[in-house]
Amino acid sequence: MKKCTILKDLFISGLSLCAVGVFASSPQKVKVATAESWAKSIVSQMTMEEKADFLCGSNGTTNNALGATGTTKEITRLGVRPIGTSDGPAGLRILSVRPADTKTYFATAFPIGTSLACTWNTELVHQVGEAIGQEVKEYGLDVFLGPGVNIHRTPLCGRNFEYYSEDPYVVGNIAAAMINGIQSNGVGTSIKHFAANNQETNRSSINEIVSERAMREIYLRGFEIAIKKSQPWTVMSSYNKVDGLFTSERHDMLTDILRGEWGFKGLVMSDWGGGFIGNNRSDVVAQIAAGNDLLMPGTNEQRADLLSAIKSGKLKMEIVDQAIERILKIVYKSPTQHNYSFSNNPHIKAHAALSRQAGAEGIVLLSNKDKTLPLASDKHVALLGSASYNTLPGGRGSGDVNEAYVVSLNEGLKNAGFVLDEGLSEYYRAYQLVPQYYNAPKPDFNEQTLNRIAQSNDVAVITIARETSEGSDQKVEGGFNLTNEEQSMIENVSKAFHQVGKKVVVVLNIGTVIETESWKNKVDGILLAWQPGQEVGNCIADILTGKVNPSGKLSMSFIKKYEDSSAAEYFPGEPANDPKTAYYKDEVFVGYRCYDKRNTDLSYEFGFGKSYTDFKYSDLKLNSRKFSKNLTATVTITNTGDCAGKEVAQLYLSAPKSELDKPVKELKGFAKTRLLKPGESQTLTFVLYPKDLASFNPNAEAWIADKGSYNVIIGASSRDIRLQDKFELSNRLVVEKVHPAFKQ
Ligand code: BGC
Repeated sequence: MKKCTILKDLFISGLSLCAVGVFASSPQKVKVATAESWAKSIVSQMTMEEKADFLCGSNGTTNNALGATGTTKEITRLGVRPIGTSDGPAGLRILSVRPADTKTYFATAFPIGTSLACTWNTELVHQVGEAIGQEVKEYGLDVFLGPGVNIHRTPLCGRNFEYYSEDPYVVGNIAAAMINGIQSNGVGTSIKHFAANNQETNRSSINEIVSERAMREIYLRGFEIAIKKSQPWTVMSSYNKVDGLFTSERHDMLTDILRGEWGFKGLVMSDWGGGFIGNNRSDVVAQIAAGNDLLMPGTNEQRADLLSAIKSGKLKMEIVDQAIERILKIVYKSPTQHNYSFSNNPHIKAHAALSRQAGAEGIVLLSNKDKTLPLASDKHVALLGSASYNTLPGGRGSGDVNEAYVVSLNEGLKNAGFVLDEGLSEYYRAYQLVPQYYNAPKPDFNEQTLNRIAQSNDVAVITIARETSEGSDQKVEGGFNLTNEEQSMIENVSKAFHQVGKKVVVVLNIGTVIETESWKNKVDGILLAWQPGQEVGNCIADILTGKVNPSGKLSMSFIKKYEDSSAAEYFPGEPANDPKTAYYKDEVFVGYRCYDKRNTDLSYEFGFGKSYTDFKYSDLKLNSRKFSKNLTATVTITNTGDCAGKEVAQLYLSAPKSELDKPVKELKGFAKTRLLKPGESQTLTFVLYPKDLASFNPNAEAWIADKGSYNVIIGASSRDIRLQDKFELSNRLVVEKVHPAFKQ
């Protein structure tokens, strides 16, 4: 252990924790540096070359032996260890094999972000976070590159599966639960991608033109809620530009808003290669000066540019030192710096069980005609669609996890006791390993064969899958819309089964919204399974059998046709064939905020999800009719059906009119009951704070709650309103004045 002499005046008795270069110990007393003093002492000893080097990360230091995505730099002579960062967000993404090692290192594939958000269960998401954090720590890493919290602005975004919702209140609260869970292990997170990274088409160069109001109310708000409630160790800036400047160069976002207004204490890193302007170079001076402290993974060109800017004084030394201190303060609290002796043996088995529980809870029952579901588990099932045999646990790209196994739907159904049509299994075996067939639900049986299948089975289950990925957006045809083969499979199978009085259930194994309107009435049940992680087949079987009563609800709207999308007119930007600029003319009217305003009929609305039981909402009580500092609403939920279930209740607020064009209503609270037995009730509590009443008024550069009457709307979904009441705000309230931002 090295002796840290500069810290000799800092003593705390009784601490046993010590780490190389951070602490020096004696039996009775332990000298402890604060993160701040340690960071300053290191900075004071660094050369200019070391500083330039340290502002860039690395892909290839010792930690990469652990299969990490990238690391910070090691400074051996000063005892600074390289900390390891790895993707996310559906579980820890590490390589499953390591050089010169015969063992395998698999991580748990948890449900994708969309699926987790549809649980509306922050306690459960917290538990998933705890489990992910334990894997991060026990696999020797320090910072998890997630969660991803960008808004679902369009159903086509290739990374929606990693993100949570079209609504920032859902995003912020689910993200905070995830971050708090992960960080409870003493490892960090990187909330990403800050911000307005809502499309993959030309993601590294697209210029998003967004008004300050839309930025603050929609695209930043989820980050704001999460950062205030959970203090992630790090924030990852995004690839795109906002209003002409890369986000990694925006001082207003990274410093004024993030740190100044929201009180963020950690470090900001770039996305991998973020802000490149060619030849592996970004404007490093602008990035560091804006508050983007760490360039990941860093290139030699960036290092050279930094060094010459430091030497010439173009990049001021105090700015450089501040960025380095921020990185060091994170290093200081990392397990690696503390020489944590990781086990390489996280609780994989328990995590698989948790993944199954969370995955099942994120499943949304969209349709259930005549109580088709649940199915008795001795039924003979005709299982159709190649994804039934090669079921997708998650999406692709950096959000893909190297899991040890995936339980396909056919395995899940067999595990649950169903009898599967062996002829069909045989038939599909040929397609199992061929990813391009995910979208082609072979085979296209003739009528006679389908009639035979319908005769010899009790029910048909068809899986429709979509594999989406980082780097590209989904197409409308064959992506959002079903292919002709998929349509005719639903049509023909339904005809054959209905002819003999048997039911058809469709399982959606997808990561983002697809079209359901044209076919939803042809089938008897629809399960929106999402991509719920490695236990996918078991998760779906748990719902099909009723072992788990569905309690997921949509965190986004299922529009009837693509043209209905609030962003359809403006996505993916101009010119359409190779967009350079995306104009967010949809303003704050994203998702249900738009569909409410336009009165758009939806296939399934935001907040919707069925259960095998029914719930009654009663006794909405406000603790006051006048708003002062805050206001509490309570509502009682009773299970009036005949099986146990959980219910998600939503609180929307409708604000008085003002000079601003405000949404009809906005989500300002949600709560989920425990598992209620038939006849059992639970009272849920919602608390409203001043900012929940406010809109961002760009003319006043302030969040303002207008004087007048506010409607409290309690819904089982955004369109299934059960109870309403109102309260008054007697005087206009300037809730928060802000720094003028997004002026360039
Ligand atoms: C993605 C990030 C990811 C990073 C490292 C980038 O391409 O946008 O989300 O964390 O790669 O893999």
